[in-house]
Amino acid sequence: MAVQTAAKPIKITETVLRDAHQSLIATRMTTEQMLPIIDKMDKVGYHSVECWGGATFDASLRFLHEDPWDRLRKLKDGFKNTKLQMLFRGQNILGYSPYADDVVEYFVQKSIANGIDIIRIFDCLNDLRNLQTAVKAANKEKGHAQVALSYTLGDAYTLDYWKDMAKRIEDMGADSICIKDMAGLLVPTQATELVQALKEGSNLPIQLHTHYTSGVAAMTYMKAVEAGCDIIDTAMSPLAMGTSQPATEVMAKAFEGTEYDPGFDQNLLAEIADYFRPMREEWLESGLLSPKVMGVNIKTLLYQVPGGMLSNMVSQLKEMKAEDKYDEVLEEIPRVRKDFGEIPLVTPSSQIVGTQAVLNVVSGERYKMLTKESKDLLVGKYGQTTKPVNADVQKKALESLGMTEPITYRPADDIEPQLEKLEKEMAQYKQQDEDVLSYALFPQVATEFFKYREAQQKKVDTSVADTENKVYPV
Ligand code: CO
Repeated sequence: MAVQTAAKPIKITETVLRDAHQSLIATRMTTEQMLPIIDKMDKVGYHSVECWGGATFDASLRFLHEDPWDRLRKLKDGFKNTKLQMLFRGQNILGYSPYADDVVEYFVQKSIANGIDIIRIFDCLNDLRNLQTAVKAANKEKGHAQVALSYTLGDAYTLDYWKDMAKRIEDMGADSICIKDMAGLLVPTQATELVQALKEGSNLPIQLHTHYTSGVAAMTYMKAVEAGCDIIDTAMSPLAMGTSQPATEVMAKAFEGTEYDPGFDQNLLAEIADYFRPMREEWLESGLLSPKVMGVNIKTLLYQVPGGMLSNMVSQLKEMKAEDKYDEVLEEIPRVRKDFGEIPLVTPSSQIVGTQAVLNVVSGERYKMLTKESKDLLVGKYGQTTKPVNADVQKKALESLGMTEPITYRPADDIEPQLEKLEKEMAQYKQQDEDVLSYALFPQVATEFFKYREAQQKKVDTSVADTENKVYPV
Protein backbone atom coordinates (compact mmCIF):
# COMPACT_ATOMS: atom_id res chain seq x y z
CA MET A 1 0.00 0.00 0.00
CA ALA A 2 1.26 3.44 -0.91
CA VAL A 3 2.22 5.63 2.01
CA GLN A 4 0.01 8.69 2.16
CA THR A 5 2.13 11.83 2.50
CA ALA A 6 0.75 15.25 3.35
CA ALA A 7 0.37 17.49 0.30
CA LYS A 8 2.79 20.38 0.14
CA PRO A 9 1.96 21.98 -3.23
CA ILE A 10 4.80 23.86 -4.84
CA LYS A 11 4.12 27.56 -5.30
CA ILE A 12 4.90 29.13 -8.64
CA THR A 13 5.90 32.66 -9.62
CA GLU A 14 5.16 33.42 -13.29
CA THR A 15 7.88 35.53 -14.94
CA VAL A 16 6.51 35.99 -18.46
CA LEU A 17 5.74 39.66 -17.84
CA ARG A 18 9.23 40.50 -16.50
CA ASP A 19 12.28 38.27 -16.55
CA ALA A 20 11.22 36.07 -19.48
CA HIS A 21 10.94 38.96 -21.93
CA GLN A 22 13.89 40.75 -20.33
CA SER A 23 16.02 37.65 -20.95
CA LEU A 24 14.79 36.82 -24.45
CA ILE A 25 13.63 39.99 -26.21
CA ALA A 26 15.48 42.82 -24.42
CA THR A 27 12.44 43.73 -22.25
CA ARG A 28 10.35 44.95 -25.18
CA MET A 29 6.90 43.53 -24.31
CA THR A 30 4.45 46.43 -24.15
CA THR A 31 1.60 46.98 -21.70
CA GLU A 32 -0.80 46.68 -24.60
CA GLN A 33 0.56 43.20 -25.32
CA MET A 34 0.14 42.19 -21.67
CA LEU A 35 -3.33 43.43 -20.80
CA PRO A 36 -5.59 41.14 -22.91
CA ILE A 37 -4.30 37.97 -21.20
CA ILE A 38 -4.10 38.95 -17.55
CA ASP A 39 -7.70 38.00 -16.83
CA LYS A 40 -6.86 34.38 -17.70
CA MET A 41 -3.49 34.52 -15.94
CA ASP A 42 -5.28 35.71 -12.83
CA LYS A 43 -7.21 32.41 -12.70
CA VAL A 44 -4.19 30.07 -12.76
CA GLY A 45 -3.44 30.15 -9.04
CA TYR A 46 0.07 31.51 -9.23
CA HIS A 47 1.82 32.40 -5.98
CA SER A 48 2.71 35.66 -7.74
CA VAL A 49 3.30 37.23 -11.11
CA GLU A 50 6.62 38.98 -11.54
CA CYS A 51 5.77 41.91 -13.78
CA TRP A 52 7.76 44.99 -12.80
CA GLY A 53 11.22 46.22 -11.85
CA GLY A 54 14.51 44.88 -13.17
CA ALA A 55 15.03 46.35 -16.62
CA THR A 56 11.32 46.89 -17.36
CA PHE A 57 11.36 50.38 -15.86
CA ASP A 58 14.28 51.60 -17.96
CA ALA A 59 13.03 49.86 -21.12
CA SER A 60 9.48 51.27 -20.77
CA LEU A 61 10.72 54.84 -20.59
CA ARG A 62 13.62 54.52 -23.02
CA PHE A 63 12.32 52.31 -25.81
CA LEU A 64 8.55 51.97 -25.46
CA HIS A 65 7.65 55.57 -24.46
CA GLU A 66 5.52 54.16 -21.70
CA ASP A 67 5.09 55.34 -18.13
CA PRO A 68 6.14 52.34 -16.00
CA TRP A 69 3.91 53.53 -13.15
CA ASP A 70 0.92 53.56 -15.44
CA ARG A 71 1.73 49.97 -16.50
CA LEU A 72 1.86 48.91 -12.86
CA ARG A 73 -1.54 50.46 -12.10
CA LYS A 74 -3.11 48.77 -15.13
CA LEU A 75 -1.68 45.38 -14.12
CA LYS A 76 -2.97 45.87 -10.59
CA ASP A 77 -6.46 46.58 -11.95
CA GLY A 78 -6.38 43.32 -13.91
CA PHE A 79 -4.81 40.96 -11.38
CA LYS A 80 -7.51 40.84 -8.75
CA ASN A 81 -6.48 37.56 -7.10
CA THR A 82 -2.76 37.30 -7.82
CA LYS A 83 0.08 39.01 -6.01
CA LEU A 84 2.31 41.26 -8.07
CA GLN A 85 6.04 40.97 -7.67
CA MET A 86 8.95 43.18 -8.66
CA LEU A 87 12.75 42.95 -8.78
CA PHE A 88 14.67 45.68 -6.93
CA ARG A 89 18.45 46.22 -7.01
CA GLY A 90 18.92 47.14 -3.35
CA GLN A 91 20.40 50.59 -2.84
CA ASN A 92 20.69 50.91 -6.66
CA ILE A 93 16.84 50.65 -6.87
CA LEU A 94 16.32 50.00 -10.61
CA GLY A 95 19.43 51.90 -11.66
CA TYR A 96 23.11 51.10 -11.82
CA SER A 97 24.67 52.92 -8.85
CA PRO A 98 23.67 53.64 -5.22
CA TYR A 99 21.02 56.25 -4.31
CA ALA A 100 20.33 58.11 -1.08
CA ASP A 101 18.07 56.45 1.49
CA ASP A 102 15.27 58.98 0.96
CA VAL A 103 14.96 57.97 -2.70
CA VAL A 104 15.04 54.24 -1.86
CA GLU A 105 12.35 54.68 0.80
CA TYR A 106 10.10 56.76 -1.44
CA PHE A 107 10.50 54.30 -4.32
CA VAL A 108 9.46 51.37 -2.14
CA GLN A 109 6.52 53.35 -0.77
CA LYS A 110 5.26 54.27 -4.24
CA SER A 111 5.82 50.78 -5.66
CA ILE A 112 3.60 49.30 -2.98
CA ALA A 113 1.05 52.11 -3.19
CA ASN A 114 0.71 51.50 -6.94
CA GLY A 115 0.19 47.74 -6.62
CA ILE A 116 3.33 45.75 -5.80
CA ASP A 117 2.85 43.07 -3.12
CA ILE A 118 6.25 41.32 -3.09
CA ILE A 119 9.57 43.11 -3.53
CA ARG A 120 12.53 40.90 -4.37
CA ILE A 121 15.59 42.83 -3.25
CA PHE A 122 19.15 41.89 -4.15
CA ASP A 123 22.64 43.34 -4.07
CA CYS A 124 25.26 42.52 -6.67
CA LEU A 125 27.87 42.00 -3.94
CA ASN A 126 25.53 40.25 -1.47
CA ASP A 127 26.41 43.08 0.94
CA LEU A 128 23.33 42.97 3.15
CA ARG A 129 23.92 46.54 4.33
CA ASN A 130 22.86 47.62 0.85
CA LEU A 131 19.47 45.96 1.39
CA GLN A 132 18.65 47.32 4.85
CA THR A 133 16.88 50.49 3.78
CA ALA A 134 14.72 48.78 1.17
CA VAL A 135 13.77 45.90 3.50
CA LYS A 136 12.85 48.30 6.30
CA ALA A 137 10.80 50.43 3.93
CA ALA A 138 8.92 47.38 2.62
CA ASN A 139 8.21 46.27 6.21
CA LYS A 140 6.90 49.73 7.02
CA GLU A 141 4.59 49.78 3.99
CA LYS A 142 3.32 46.26 4.83
CA GLY A 143 4.80 44.80 1.68
CA HIS A 144 6.49 41.39 1.50
CA ALA A 145 10.27 41.87 1.60
CA GLN A 146 12.07 39.04 -0.11
CA VAL A 147 15.87 39.14 0.04
CA ALA A 148 17.57 37.50 -2.92
CA LEU A 149 21.07 36.09 -2.67
CA SER A 150 23.04 36.46 -5.89
CA TYR A 151 24.20 32.90 -6.48
CA THR A 152 27.71 32.33 -7.70
CA LEU A 153 30.57 29.86 -7.43
CA GLY A 154 34.03 30.23 -5.87
CA ASP A 155 36.14 29.36 -2.84
CA ALA A 156 34.28 31.81 -0.63
CA TYR A 157 30.84 30.38 -1.37
CA THR A 158 30.69 27.39 0.95
CA LEU A 159 27.48 25.93 2.35
CA ASP A 160 28.37 27.64 5.63
CA TYR A 161 28.54 30.97 3.80
CA TRP A 162 24.99 30.52 2.45
CA LYS A 163 23.67 29.20 5.76
CA ASP A 164 25.09 32.19 7.62
CA MET A 165 23.59 34.54 5.02
CA ALA A 166 20.16 32.93 5.51
CA LYS A 167 20.36 33.54 9.24
CA ARG A 168 21.37 37.16 8.76
CA ILE A 169 18.57 37.72 6.25
CA GLU A 170 16.01 36.40 8.72
CA ASP A 171 17.50 38.60 11.45
CA MET A 172 17.22 41.70 9.28
CA GLY A 173 13.44 41.31 9.02
CA ALA A 174 12.94 39.79 5.57
CA ASP A 175 9.83 37.69 4.87
CA SER A 176 11.43 35.15 2.54
CA ILE A 177 14.70 34.25 0.84
CA CYS A 178 15.35 33.80 -2.85
CA ILE A 179 18.30 32.06 -4.44
CA LYS A 180 18.89 34.23 -7.48
CA ASP A 181 20.80 32.09 -9.97
CA MET A 182 21.02 34.59 -12.82
CA ALA A 183 23.51 32.57 -14.88
CA GLY A 184 21.98 29.12 -14.45
CA LEU A 185 24.99 27.80 -12.54
CA LEU A 186 23.12 25.79 -9.93
CA VAL A 187 23.20 22.08 -10.82
CA PRO A 188 20.68 19.59 -9.35
CA THR A 189 22.78 17.97 -6.61
CA GLN A 190 24.09 21.32 -5.42
CA ALA A 191 20.52 22.61 -5.30
CA THR A 192 19.68 19.91 -2.76
CA GLU A 193 22.59 20.92 -0.53
CA LEU A 194 21.98 24.63 -0.94
CA VAL A 195 18.29 24.48 -0.07
CA GLN A 196 19.06 22.33 2.96
CA ALA A 197 21.72 24.80 4.12
CA LEU A 198 19.32 27.76 3.78
CA LYS A 199 16.62 25.83 5.64
CA GLU A 200 19.10 25.08 8.44
CA GLY A 201 20.07 28.74 8.61
CA SER A 202 16.54 30.17 8.78
CA ASN A 203 12.84 29.41 9.07
CA LEU A 204 11.87 31.60 6.12
CA PRO A 205 10.24 30.28 2.93
CA ILE A 206 12.82 29.61 0.21
CA GLN A 207 12.25 30.53 -3.43
CA LEU A 208 14.49 29.47 -6.29
CA HIS A 209 15.02 31.63 -9.36
CA THR A 210 17.17 30.24 -12.14
CA HIS A 211 17.68 30.47 -15.90
CA TYR A 212 17.60 27.64 -18.43
CA THR A 213 20.82 28.85 -20.08
CA SER A 214 22.95 25.81 -19.21
CA GLY A 215 20.09 23.34 -19.68
CA VAL A 216 19.89 21.97 -16.13
CA ALA A 217 17.24 24.29 -14.68
CA ALA A 218 14.19 22.00 -14.73
CA MET A 219 16.14 19.19 -13.03
CA THR A 220 17.53 21.69 -10.54
CA TYR A 221 13.96 22.74 -9.65
CA MET A 222 12.94 19.13 -9.14
CA LYS A 223 15.80 18.50 -6.73
CA ALA A 224 15.33 21.82 -4.94
CA VAL A 225 11.62 21.16 -4.39
CA GLU A 226 12.32 17.67 -3.04
CA ALA A 227 14.80 19.29 -0.63
CA GLY A 228 12.13 21.65 0.69
CA CYS A 229 12.22 24.66 -1.63
CA ASP A 230 8.81 26.36 -1.33
CA ILE A 231 8.50 28.47 -4.49
CA ILE A 232 9.97 28.29 -8.01
CA ASP A 233 10.04 30.79 -10.90
CA THR A 234 8.78 29.67 -14.31
CA ALA A 235 7.71 31.29 -17.60
CA MET A 236 4.90 30.36 -19.99
CA SER A 237 6.38 28.11 -22.70
CA PRO A 238 6.45 30.58 -25.65
CA LEU A 239 8.83 32.71 -23.56
CA ALA A 240 10.56 29.95 -21.63
CA MET A 241 13.90 28.14 -21.73
CA GLY A 242 17.06 29.40 -23.41
CA THR A 243 18.21 32.34 -21.32
CA SER A 244 14.73 32.51 -19.69
CA GLN A 245 13.14 30.24 -17.03
CA PRO A 246 11.87 26.63 -17.32
CA ALA A 247 8.34 26.41 -18.76
CA THR A 248 5.38 26.80 -16.40
CA GLU A 249 3.31 24.07 -18.08
CA VAL A 250 6.22 21.60 -17.95
CA MET A 251 6.99 22.14 -14.27
CA ALA A 252 3.29 21.98 -13.33
CA LYS A 253 2.99 18.72 -15.28
CA ALA A 254 6.17 17.30 -13.74
CA PHE A 255 4.75 17.71 -10.24
CA GLU A 256 1.20 16.58 -11.15
CA GLY A 257 -0.03 13.72 -9.01
CA THR A 258 2.80 14.14 -6.50
CA GLU A 259 2.66 15.71 -3.06
CA TYR A 260 4.02 18.89 -4.73
CA ASP A 261 1.21 19.18 -7.32
CA PRO A 262 0.44 22.91 -7.75
CA GLY A 263 -3.02 21.96 -9.04
CA PHE A 264 -2.85 24.06 -12.22
CA ASP A 265 -5.36 23.56 -15.05
CA GLN A 266 -3.32 22.50 -18.11
CA ASN A 267 -6.15 23.60 -20.45
CA LEU A 268 -6.08 27.10 -19.03
CA LEU A 269 -2.27 27.17 -19.32
CA ALA A 270 -2.59 26.04 -22.95
CA GLU A 271 -4.95 28.95 -23.68
CA ILE A 272 -2.47 31.39 -22.17
CA ALA A 273 0.38 29.86 -24.19
CA ASP A 274 -1.77 30.20 -27.33
CA TYR A 275 -1.98 33.92 -26.65
CA PHE A 276 1.80 34.41 -26.44
CA ARG A 277 2.80 32.01 -29.25
CA PRO A 278 2.01 34.28 -32.23
CA MET A 279 3.99 37.06 -30.53
CA ARG A 280 6.95 34.72 -30.30
CA GLU A 281 6.66 34.09 -34.06
CA GLU A 282 6.60 37.83 -34.73
CA TRP A 283 9.65 38.45 -32.53
CA LEU A 284 11.51 35.67 -34.30
CA GLU A 285 10.64 37.14 -37.67
CA SER A 286 11.65 40.67 -36.72
CA GLY A 287 14.90 39.39 -35.22
CA LEU A 288 14.08 40.69 -31.74
CA LEU A 289 14.14 37.09 -30.57
CA SER A 290 17.42 35.56 -31.64
CA PRO A 291 17.96 31.80 -31.93
CA LYS A 292 21.25 32.50 -30.09
CA VAL A 293 19.45 32.93 -26.75
CA MET A 294 17.13 29.96 -27.23
CA GLY A 295 19.21 26.81 -27.08
CA VAL A 296 21.49 25.47 -24.38
CA ASN A 297 24.76 27.32 -23.89
CA ILE A 298 27.03 25.11 -21.85
CA LYS A 299 29.78 27.74 -21.93
CA THR A 300 27.89 29.49 -19.18
CA LEU A 301 28.97 26.65 -16.84
CA LEU A 302 32.56 26.83 -18.07
CA TYR A 303 32.99 30.58 -17.74
CA GLN A 304 30.22 31.27 -15.20
CA VAL A 305 29.12 34.27 -17.18
CA PRO A 306 25.41 35.27 -17.30
CA GLY A 307 23.87 35.22 -20.80
CA GLY A 308 23.17 38.96 -20.88
CA MET A 309 26.79 39.68 -20.07
CA LEU A 310 27.99 37.66 -23.06
CA SER A 311 25.81 39.59 -25.49
CA ASN A 312 26.97 42.94 -24.00
CA MET A 313 30.55 41.82 -24.42
CA VAL A 314 30.06 40.89 -28.05
CA SER A 315 28.57 44.31 -28.85
CA GLN A 316 31.40 46.13 -27.02
CA LEU A 317 34.01 44.17 -28.99
CA LYS A 318 32.15 44.91 -32.23
CA GLU A 319 32.24 48.65 -31.50
CA MET A 320 35.97 48.43 -30.89
CA LYS A 321 36.45 46.29 -33.99
CA ALA A 322 38.05 43.63 -31.84
CA GLU A 323 35.66 40.71 -32.28
CA ASP A 324 38.62 38.35 -32.69
CA LYS A 325 39.42 38.93 -28.99
CA TYR A 326 36.25 37.17 -27.83
CA ASP A 327 37.94 34.08 -26.40
CA GLU A 328 40.67 36.12 -24.72
CA VAL A 329 38.06 38.30 -23.01
CA LEU A 330 36.11 35.26 -21.94
CA GLU A 331 39.22 33.96 -20.19
CA GLU A 332 39.99 37.38 -18.71
CA ILE A 333 36.57 37.69 -17.01
CA PRO A 334 37.28 35.15 -14.21
CA ARG A 335 40.65 36.81 -13.55
CA VAL A 336 39.11 40.28 -13.21
CA ARG A 337 36.38 38.81 -11.03
CA LYS A 338 39.07 37.38 -8.75
CA ASP A 339 40.96 40.71 -8.60
CA PHE A 340 37.64 42.37 -7.73
CA GLY A 341 37.02 40.12 -4.70
CA GLU A 342 35.35 37.07 -6.31
CA ILE A 343 32.01 38.89 -6.50
CA PRO A 344 28.82 37.55 -8.11
CA LEU A 345 28.24 38.71 -11.68
CA VAL A 346 24.86 40.42 -11.83
CA THR A 347 23.72 43.96 -12.68
CA PRO A 348 25.71 46.15 -12.22
CA SER A 349 28.81 44.10 -11.21
CA SER A 350 28.50 41.99 -14.38
CA GLN A 351 28.77 45.11 -16.56
CA ILE A 352 31.67 46.47 -14.48
CA VAL A 353 33.71 43.26 -14.64
CA GLY A 354 32.82 42.66 -18.31
CA THR A 355 33.83 46.14 -19.45
CA GLN A 356 37.08 45.99 -17.48
CA ALA A 357 37.93 42.59 -18.97
CA VAL A 358 37.37 44.01 -22.47
CA LEU A 359 39.64 47.00 -21.69
CA ASN A 360 42.35 44.75 -20.22
CA VAL A 361 42.48 42.67 -23.37
CA VAL A 362 41.98 45.35 -26.01
CA SER A 363 44.48 47.83 -24.49
CA GLY A 364 47.09 45.07 -24.34
CA GLU A 365 47.93 45.77 -20.69
CA ARG A 366 45.89 44.71 -17.68
CA TYR A 367 44.46 47.67 -15.70
CA LYS A 368 46.31 50.20 -17.88
CA MET A 369 42.92 51.90 -17.86
CA LEU A 370 40.34 51.55 -15.10
CA THR A 371 36.73 52.58 -15.71
CA LYS A 372 35.11 54.91 -13.19
CA GLU A 373 32.88 52.04 -12.08
CA SER A 374 35.86 49.72 -11.60
CA LYS A 375 37.57 52.33 -9.45
CA ASP A 376 34.45 52.85 -7.36
CA LEU A 377 34.05 49.13 -6.86
CA LEU A 378 37.70 48.68 -5.88
CA VAL A 379 37.53 51.42 -3.23
CA GLY A 380 34.33 50.10 -1.66
CA LYS A 381 31.77 52.52 -3.11
CA TYR A 382 29.45 49.64 -4.06
CA GLY A 383 29.95 47.90 -0.72
CA GLN A 384 32.03 45.08 0.67
CA THR A 385 33.29 42.42 -1.72
CA THR A 386 33.17 38.77 -0.71
CA LYS A 387 36.95 38.44 -0.62
CA PRO A 388 39.55 41.24 -0.42
CA VAL A 389 40.30 42.85 -3.78
CA ASN A 390 43.75 42.79 -5.42
CA ALA A 391 45.82 45.28 -3.35
CA ASP A 392 47.88 46.60 -6.27
CA VAL A 393 44.88 47.34 -8.43
CA GLN A 394 43.09 48.90 -5.46
CA LYS A 395 46.08 51.19 -4.84
CA LYS A 396 45.84 52.41 -8.41
CA ALA A 397 42.13 53.14 -7.99
CA LEU A 398 42.63 54.95 -4.67
CA GLU A 399 45.39 57.16 -6.14
CA SER A 400 43.40 58.13 -9.18
CA LEU A 401 40.40 59.04 -6.99
CA GLY A 402 42.61 61.03 -4.59
CA MET A 403 41.70 58.75 -1.70
CA THR A 404 44.06 57.28 0.89
CA GLU A 405 41.86 54.47 2.19
CA PRO A 406 38.96 52.40 0.91
CA ILE A 407 35.44 52.90 2.28
CA THR A 408 34.43 50.34 4.89
CA TYR A 409 31.11 51.83 6.02
CA ARG A 410 27.77 51.36 4.21
CA PRO A 411 28.25 53.30 0.95
CA ALA A 412 24.88 55.08 1.14
CA ASP A 413 25.88 56.63 4.50
CA ASP A 414 27.90 59.02 2.37
CA ILE A 415 25.05 60.10 0.13
CA GLU A 416 23.13 63.22 1.17
CA PRO A 417 19.32 63.15 0.80
CA GLN A 418 18.48 63.71 -2.88
CA LEU A 419 14.70 64.01 -3.20
CA GLU A 420 14.26 67.71 -2.54
CA LYS A 421 16.86 68.70 -5.10
CA LEU A 422 15.44 66.28 -7.67
CA GLU A 423 11.92 67.65 -7.15
CA LYS A 424 13.18 71.15 -7.96
CA GLU A 425 15.06 70.02 -11.04
CA MET A 426 12.10 68.33 -12.67
CA ALA A 427 9.20 70.43 -11.31
CA GLN A 428 8.21 71.73 -14.77
CA TYR A 429 7.47 68.21 -16.02
CA LYS A 430 5.70 66.81 -12.97
CA GLN A 431 2.25 65.35 -13.58
CA GLN A 432 2.20 62.76 -10.76
CA ASP A 433 4.21 62.23 -7.55
CA GLU A 434 5.96 59.20 -9.07
CA ASP A 435 7.56 61.26 -11.85
CA VAL A 436 10.34 62.41 -9.53
CA LEU A 437 11.35 58.77 -9.04
CA SER A 438 11.52 58.10 -12.78
CA TYR A 439 13.67 61.22 -13.03
CA ALA A 440 15.86 60.18 -10.08
CA LEU A 441 16.75 56.89 -11.75
CA PHE A 442 17.12 57.99 -15.35
CA PRO A 443 17.29 61.79 -15.53
CA GLN A 444 17.88 62.09 -19.27
CA VAL A 445 15.63 59.27 -20.39
CA ALA A 446 12.82 60.40 -18.07
CA THR A 447 13.08 64.01 -19.30
CA GLU A 448 12.82 62.80 -22.91
CA PHE A 449 9.79 60.76 -21.91
CA PHE A 450 8.14 63.69 -20.09
CA LYS A 451 8.55 65.83 -23.23
CA TYR A 452 7.15 63.06 -25.40
CA ARG A 453 4.20 62.70 -23.02
CA GLU A 454 3.44 66.43 -23.20
CA ALA A 455 3.62 66.38 -26.97
CA GLN A 456 1.21 63.44 -27.11
CA GLN A 457 -1.22 65.19 -24.77
CA LYS A 458 -1.16 68.33 -26.93
CA LYS A 459 -1.90 66.19 -29.99
CA VAL A 460 -4.90 64.67 -28.29
CA ASP A 461 -6.12 68.12 -27.23
CA THR A 462 -5.93 69.51 -30.76
CA SER A 463 -7.67 66.51 -32.25
CA VAL A 464 -10.50 66.97 -29.73
CA ALA A 465 -10.67 70.67 -30.60
CA ASP A 466 -10.79 69.79 -34.30
CA THR A 467 -13.74 67.51 -33.81
CA GLU A 468 -15.60 70.11 -31.80
CA ASN A 469 -15.16 72.72 -34.50
CA LYS A 470 -16.22 70.46 -37.27
CA VAL A 471 -19.60 71.06 -38.81
CA TYR A 472 -21.33 67.80 -39.44
CA PRO A 473 -23.94 67.49 -42.11
CA VAL A 474 -27.32 66.81 -40.58
CO1 CO B 1 16.57 36.30 -13.66
